[in-house]
Amino acid sequence: KRPRIVVVGSLNMDLVVTADRAPQTGETLQGESVHFIPGGKGANQAVACARLGAEAHMIGAVGSDPFGTTIVDEMRKNGVLTDRIDVLKDTATGIASILHTHEDNSIVIVPGANGEVTPERVERSRDLIAQADVLLVQLEIPLEAAAAALRIARQAGVRTILNPAPARRLPEEMLRSADYITPNETEFAILGAYGDGEAADDMPPANWEMGLSEWTSRYGHAVILTRGKHGASYVKDGAAETIAAPPVQPVDTTGAGDCLNAAFAYGLASGWDTEHALRFAVRAASLSVTKFGAQDGMPTLAEVEGLPQ
Ligand code: RIB
Ligand code: NA
Repeated sequence: KRPRIVVVGSLNMDLVVTADRAPQTGETLQGESVHFIPGGKGANQAVACARLGAEAHMIGAVGSDPFGTTIVDEMRKNGVLTDRIDVLKDTATGIASILHTHEDNSIVIVPGANGEVTPERVERSRDLIAQADVLLVQLEIPLEAAAAALRIARQAGVRTILNPAPARRLPEEMLRSADYITPNETEFAILGAYGDGEAADDMPPANWEMGLSEWTSRYGHAVILTRGKHGASYVKDGAAETIAAPPVQPVDTTGAGDCLNAAFAYGLASGWDTEHALRFAVRAASLSVTKFGAQDGMPTLAEVEGLPQ
């Protein structure tokens, strides 16, 4: 049986401008290229799940404009089941304006139709969510909608992954209704894991290892701390354990976190334990950064399995 994953989240058209570096405030720079490519954390995760071979369902919304059509068509070509994506009149498809430099990315999001994903809309797909092996949600849709999806899944005994991106503080109830949360280091700090919002990079490892353990016992869920080229860390038998990422030549890290979340969901939905699923997810995410664009780099199962150990 194919693992069944339901993704509740955003769909964006990514407007990617590549430049040598980011401009300073007030400065005008010449860029190298511009691309319009489908993105959005929800859509990226659904595409990655489908590429790995899951039965991937997307719940979300686009506007009735050409961007929306392109995004949904691309997802369908990738094998995602798109009939729960609402096409909204008089609303624009979400846009992510991405500045891609050799160093890193910076992103500004205009939610558009993603902002219209209400709890009622999610509620209409209750049956679908209840039949999933794993539910995957992020935070580019209204908080109440993400919370509703988690609640429905929890009531139905479906395993849940909350990818708290982009970062914001979250209500207790929401944190308690996720089986796994998957912040990166910055997001974990913003969630309040270290009390004062300090970034993990700036503190000795013992501090964030402590943060991981404390947080895990406070909310009763597992934290998967994603750490870019360093891989991912989680608590195993009471101690922090890091799964290292294989070395790769990075081209574009956009969507790497989405790939990790999707591959982790795929592993859990396949019945693997946390460690097995996370090892697989870290390898998949490493592969995803070797290609340009959020969705193009999402690897197939064969590609992940073919990556040398
Ligand atoms: O996680 C990457 C995604 O974040 C991009 O595709 C962009 O749409 C933003 O939402
Ligand atoms: Na990529």
